[in-house]
Amino acid sequence: MSDFYLDPKTAESSRATYDATGYDKLYFSSIQQSNFTSERYLDSLLLNGYSLNKIIDQKLTKEILDGRGEMDESRSKEFDQVFYFKDNDLLKEVLKKILIEDVEKTILNYYYSNFAVIFAVLLKTLPKEEKDLKDNPSMAWHCDMGPSNHLKLLITLSEDEHGGGTEYLNRETTDLLKKIGYGFVPIEHRKFDLKPLAEKNNIPFNIDLVKPKCGEGIFFEPARTMHRGFRPTKGESHRLVLGFIPWPANWENFHNQNPDFTFKNVGMSFPKINP
Ligand SMILES: [Fe+2]
Repeated sequence: MSDFYLDPKTAESSRATYDATGYDKLYFSSIQQSNFTSERYLDSLLLNGYSLNKIIDQKLTKEILDGRGEMDESRSKEFDQVFYFKDNDLLKEVLKKILIEDVEKTILNYYYSNFAVIFAVLLKTLPKEEKDLKDNPSMAWHCDMGPSNHLKLLITLSEDEHGGGTEYLNRETTDLLKKIGYGFVPIEHRKFDLKPLAEKNNIPFNIDLVKPKCGEGIFFEPARTMHRGFRPTKGESHRLVLGFIPWPANWENFHNQNPDFTFKNVGMSFPKINP
């Protein structure tokens, strides 16, 4: 048991760090200005912190892959590659096609306010044995750094029958693990197996392995829901990652006010925001 690195202070303070830079206030002002009155439904995303949804059709998956631009050399590794879209206009057209109907409704229901797209990144993942944690930090249990109210959508763009997917622990289990100190632990201290830690502390522990098909996507709260990824064992997997934050007007308003921000933000960063 002693080989678990536990740090309750960092686990609690890390997400507060981002919230204190303005994202709590941003959420507050977004809700205040939304004036939503519709009924809110408790879907899997609100209940558990993640959900699997049908997002786009085959035609659009192909269109998105065709829109792939340059690889970001500084953030890419041999087995994990990060790509820009070809240009900002193309990205905007793709977002217009994705953020409609049930997909838009799910995000509006989640925030009960409008939202913005803060990043849109194309990923290519190749098979590799998960031996060295330093090369595979996403494959061990973790929460992503970032404001607690940011949301991710991981859309699968390729058929993958060879093991790629993501495992999730629900929000309740994640909260309890954070309370005993396993939260945003340094990469070298991340673990592939948390069951012994959960059992010792009587924390309910049910792993949910989600394997989206082409055109499906996983919505999840990266800072609040513990997760770990799995590479394909054969072939390559392609995904589009969209990052959302609450926003006082619709996403096109953010896009117009910050023309290149989403397009350039392949590092998936969160600027200081003072709404
Ligand atoms: Fe992650």
